[in-house]
Amino acid sequence: MKLNYGVMSLVPTVLAASLGCATPAHAQSAAAAPDNAPLDVHQLFATTCGWCHSDGGRAAGKGPQLMDTKRDDEFIRNRIKNGKPGAMPAFGTMFSDAQIDTIIRYIRELKPHEG
Ligand code: HEC
Repeated sequence: MKLNYGVMSLVPTVLAASLGCATPAHAQSAAAAPDNAPLDVHQLFATTCGWCHSDGGRAAGKGPQLMDTKRDDEFIRNRIKNGKPGAMPAFGTMFSDAQIDTIIRYIRELKPHEG
C-alpha cells in the first residue's frame, strides 16, 4: 500500500488558512477597545452604522439621513442607546456616555462632500 503524501501535506496549510479567516483583525480590535477609549467615529460609520446610515450619515439608507437632523441631543443619545425595535439595534452596551457624546458631535458637524 502506498500513502499519498501529496494530499496529507496540504492539510495543515488549509487549516491554517481557514483559522486565519475566522478572526479578521478589525473584529478583534473593535471587541478589545476599552470603554473610554477615543472612538474613531469615521471608522464606526464606515462599518457598523454605515449599514443603515449611508455615506457617513450624509444620506438615507435603511435608516434616515443624520446630517442636519432636527433631533436634539437627548433624542439622539436615546436612539443610539436604546435603538428602536424592528428598525435600529440598541448600542447602549457598546458605547460609554463619552463615546456617545463623540458620535453626537460627529453628527452635528456632518457636511456635504466638497464639490
Ligand atoms: C440596522 C440598521 C441600523 C443601524 C445598524 C444603525 N441604525 Fe440608526 N437608525 C436606523 C433606523 C431605521 C432609524 C429610524 C428609527 C425611527 O423610525 O425613528 C435610525 C435612527 C437613528 C438616529 C435618529 C435620527 C433621527 O433623525 O431620528 C440616530 C442618531 C442614529 N440612528 C444613529 C445611529 C448610529 C450612531 C449607529 C451606529 C452606532 C446606527 N444608527 C446604526 C437604522 C439603523
